[in-house]
Amino acid sequence: MAMPRFIQLHREDGAAPRDELARGLAQRPAMVAPKFFYDALGSRLFDAITELPEYYPTRIERAIFDAHAPAMAAAAGRGRTLIDLGAGSCEKAARLFGVLEPLRYVAVDISVDYLRHALDHLHRLHPAIEMIGVGSDFSTELVLPADIGGGERLLFYPGSSIGNFTPAQALRLLRQARTVGGADGALLIGVDLVKDRAVLERAYDDPLQVTAAFNLNLLRRLNTLLGCDARLEDFQHVALFNEHESRIEMHLQARLAVTLHWPGGERALAAGERIHTENSYKYTVDGFDRLLREAGFARTRCWCDDAGWFAVFLAN
Ligand code: AVJ
Repeated sequence: MAMPRFIQLHREDGAAPRDELARGLAQRPAMVAPKFFYDALGSRLFDAITELPEYYPTRIERAIFDAHAPAMAAAAGRGRTLIDLGAGSCEKAARLFGVLEPLRYVAVDISVDYLRHALDHLHRLHPAIEMIGVGSDFSTELVLPADIGGGERLLFYPGSSIGNFTPAQALRLLRQARTVGGADGALLIGVDLVKDRAVLERAYDDPLQVTAAFNLNLLRRLNTLLGCDARLEDFQHVALFNEHESRIEMHLQARLAVTLHWPGGERALAAGERIHTENSYKYTVDGFDRLLREAGFARTRCWCDDAGWFAVFLAN
């Protein structure tokens, strides 16, 4: 089989992230989008988070796939084009190749450069599967290149990354997933569930403080991308469960009055004032099922762990 192909749909031009960051800092409260977490260090810190005993989603999702992948494959159908949204290391999808037997694997991530190494490696292990890497920021709109081939599509969106979107944005993305999947398409998606506040807050504020480092790394990103002068020691990691909105919120809270400066702008923060850096929405099984149906999926199936902490849905 041919070597993997790589397609970059659009690349940010350098000014765009700067504008987006400056606009976010000007808001009240100040905001930075979670996509900025993931530079090389941020991605490594996130990988470290997934190893923490307190961060249950990765581990429980893997156990659900290990236990139920054959049933999922039977329901989804084998020999499909597997489209992996936010593929990164492609590890989660690769674990399912054996049962899903995809004809073709399309890995999508913000930058196609993140995918080259992983796909070249995977191609050597699975030479019969056609592989395509696509660079695309689907957080604003999910579009795929026209020439990724025919066949039935299975969209794969694991890790509860859907939780970064508001329910309204999530609905929009699910509708786009349904459109991209086509009439015979299916979606396999991991969703983190509402649970005890203490469990949730510990998962996002671990005693080893890896999540704190992950959050504070955003200040380094502000300094690099925007030319900002943030001092990491002036800020404190805050993670709290907002029960009313059913979401974990992460913030960077100023330990004292600080003013951030960058070429062309500044933002003053009072002591205790926060920069909002992430939302991670938690759903009930019924709530997410309703969202899938609202997005146009007529059939849904759901697999959970015994404690009901995490769910994997198959929708078509
Ligand atoms: C990658 C968005 C699924 O919300 O749990 C983990 C990111 N942030 N710890 C999540 C995250 C802090 C993660 N997602």
